Amino acid sequence: MDFFNYKDNELYAEDIKVTDLVERYGSPLYVYSKATLVRHLKAFEEALAAKDHLICYAVKANSSLAILNTIAKFGCGFDVVSKGELMRVIKAGGDPGKVIYSGVGKREDEIEFALQSKIKCLNIESESELYKVEQVAKRLSLVAPVALRVNPNVDAKTHPSISTGLKKNKFGIAFEDALRLYTYIANSEHLQATGIDCHIGSQMTSGAPIIEATDKLISLYHQLEEIGIKVDHIDIGGGLGVTYNDETPPSPYEYLAAVIVRLKDIDVSIYCEPGRAMVANAGILLTNVLYLKSNSERNFCIVDAAMGDLIRPALYNSWMNIIPAVKRDPSDALEGSNANGTKLYDVVGPICESDDYLGKDRHLNVREGDVLAVRGAGAYGSSMSSNYNSRPLCAEILVDGDKAYVIRERQKEEDMWLNERIIDA
Ligand code: LLP
Repeated sequence: MDFFNYKDNELYAEDIKVTDLVERYGSPLYVYSKATLVRHLKAFEEALAAKDHLICYAVKANSSLAILNTIAKFGCGFDVVSKGELMRVIKAGGDPGKVIYSGVGKREDEIEFALQSKIKCLNIESESELYKVEQVAKRLSLVAPVALRVNPNVDAKTHPSISTGLKKNKFGIAFEDALRLYTYIANSEHLQATGIDCHIGSQMTSGAPIIEATDKLISLYHQLEEIGIKVDHIDIGGGLGVTYNDETPPSPYEYLAAVIVRLKDIDVSIYCEPGRAMVANAGILLTNVLYLKSNSERNFCIVDAAMGDLIRPALYNSWMNIIPAVKRDPSDALEGSNANGTKLYDVVGPICESDDYLGKDRHLNVREGDVLAVRGAGAYGSSMSSNYNSRPLCAEILVDGDKAYVIRERQKEEDMWLNERIIDA
């Protein structure tokens, strides 16, 4: 459930008509609903209430300072994958003591910054990285809290581009190596093993893979116990999917219930790293229809949002729902429309790439000048955007009831080349 609903055929973000937002702030425009975000935060908190836990929101899903600040105020932690993300969390008022740091390629300066910021835990993704962290910790005369991100070789049954828990993926440490490396950590003066971690994939629409992965982590936990190594948390990563089209993912409660049952009698906190499930349906991307054109094969609805604003359809062939800001009566239809008043369109952007589209084969009753909304755009939308074709980054709005806040100004053209230099030679 979210707070983007129609009233009298007009789409609202909470209590504000989205067409009013476009009029005020321009297009394309990301719009987030605070009530939806808070609802999702509460759903995860409630799902985990039976067990000591830490929700570490995966910053990469949406790294807007205002979103991070809302999440921080709720008491959550964060999962970061770069120095930039960690700095964002700190800037947004997040507690570094509740930050975990994942990622296969942490640079030395990033490791140093993380340790100096006293983050909760570094999730180690290779043997070489472990030695690097030890080296940095020694240089700084401190003890680095670490967890091994193990690769449990579990199929997340999701799109191959966002599957991370198989041997063919670059992520994590081979399960077979974990015991040896935990033993190494136990003997190091500058490392302390605080947890066991995994993240097997994203947009999972069933709880089965995470249960399989949890069972593997639990078996490792017991093996560690047998050799006298005690960790304080088990981190099951993120990955819970959302409904973009007809997917029926479990609720956070359903997803986590079986995991909690398994961990009930084990003396650990449960950590999780949800990104998409927290923010996807808390955001929409609004876009103006610039032109309609047709040839003998297809109808094109050319909008002013592009793959640079929302790359998921182009990159993963993702299906994202595209709905009108104002629903037209079927009687008000263009020539050649079907009985519902709609025609079949490819909704495409202005970028010079054939893959620059937001949706293909969409039934729409649309005119030039209309506003369309792409739903589910709160996750991996703005955070993956780029300036390709020298198009400025969109403005972003956070709606709270009947109030709208600009949380990112629309980028100015001249700011795109702020750090560029023309050489004298
Ligand atoms: N933890 C780690 C270590 C991750 O790599 C990720 C996502 C998450 C947590 C959060 O996963 P989530 O709960 O959001 O599924 N750009 C892609 C998704 C890439 C996910 C990368 N890692 C997309 O738009 O579908």
